[in-house]
Amino acid sequence: MNRKLKIFLSILLIIVLISLIIITIIKLITSDSGKNKTNETSNYSDTAVEAMKEMNLYGKINNAEYSKTIEVLLEDQELQEKYLDDYYNINYTNITNFSTTINELLDKDYSSEEINYITENMKNDINILLNMEHVDILAFQDLSNFDINNLERYLAYQEENEDYDLATVVTYVNIGLDKEGYSEYTEYTNEEAQNDLTILVNKYHKLPDDYEPNDLIALSYNSNYYLRKEAAEAFEKLTNAGLLDGVIFYPFSPYRSYKTQEVLYNRYVERDGQAAADTYSARPGFSEHQLGLAVDVRSNTLSDNLTPEHYEWMLDNSYKYGFIVRYPKGCQHITQFMEEPWHLRYLGVELATKVHDSGLTYDEYYDLYMK
Ligand code: DAL
Ligand code: ZN
Repeated sequence: MNRKLKIFLSILLIIVLISLIIITIIKLITSDSGKNKTNETSNYSDTAVEAMKEMNLYGKINNAEYSKTIEVLLEDQELQEKYLDDYYNINYTNITNFSTTINELLDKDYSSEEINYITENMKNDINILLNMEHVDILAFQDLSNFDINNLERYLAYQEENEDYDLATVVTYVNIGLDKEGYSEYTEYTNEEAQNDLTILVNKYHKLPDDYEPNDLIALSYNSNYYLRKEAAEAFEKLTNAGLLDGVIFYPFSPYRSYKTQEVLYNRYVERDGQAAADTYSARPGFSEHQLGLAVDVRSNTLSDNLTPEHYEWMLDNSYKYGFIVRYPKGCQHITQFMEEPWHLRYLGVELATKVHDSGLTYDEYYDLYMK
């Protein structure tokens, strides 16, 4: 073939290819994802157009802005004229039974704004809302620890505690405070207790009866006093730091086995009655002392308390060595235990610092940031 003919044929081929590409692009742009049109002026599917005609709404809907929500409702034969304005503000989302769900929410007086929030953020839990009266759901939207499974409990607790704001209500209910301590609780496994130094133990979180930490070591102060290795080492540092500041304190109750806690608790119950004992002693299985991560300290060996000065020092410094004051003043309604300035819980320096800086009890902090 001569050279000129070759060039001519190549150019022709290129032109044909480019034309084909352009035609394909134009087709793609002008086609409406394969949807069948009834006529050139409708964006709606045949079925939708048919349905709007049947409802005598063709002019009204077809002349207005296209809405996927309305199209789906029409196709599902679920469009209700009274909600037409709302539908325009409701975004279509790919949830099961979209049409009936939207209508049921509208029946319950949910606004389009609320419905958009619900379908976008609570896809799998809408049934919970459908089984309840209208809830001011947007009021919860900024609460990171909001759990829709607790919604009814929040509402009931809020009614009983009108002076609490919603954030407090949510946290307290999540902790379990709307229920009597010990009435319902989660039980950890031995592995969870052993492997997680930050585990929350309170009247709603129990340790296995046979849980014993496998890395207890004796404190230098007394060879019968044990803590888990990491906590024991940190405790020595804490004691030394106190010493340097002229704040001398002694451990007097570190690790306690389930059995020891049982004996103690029963003794208190016998002495003061169960209701009183429950304000200061944990029932067996519910004590941080069984974790080997809690230690009671005192200012001198004759009393079982800290002086106010020592307590202040502890509040301001213990976190630097990984310990928090677990039952602070004024928090009995949260911790479910009276103020115990002497009870320290080891969490590690990083977490103890965060909890200290948050100003929250560990129960609250755990719910807000650890779940
Ligand atoms: N005194 C604390 C609450 C305990 O018994 O663990
Ligand atoms: Zn204690």
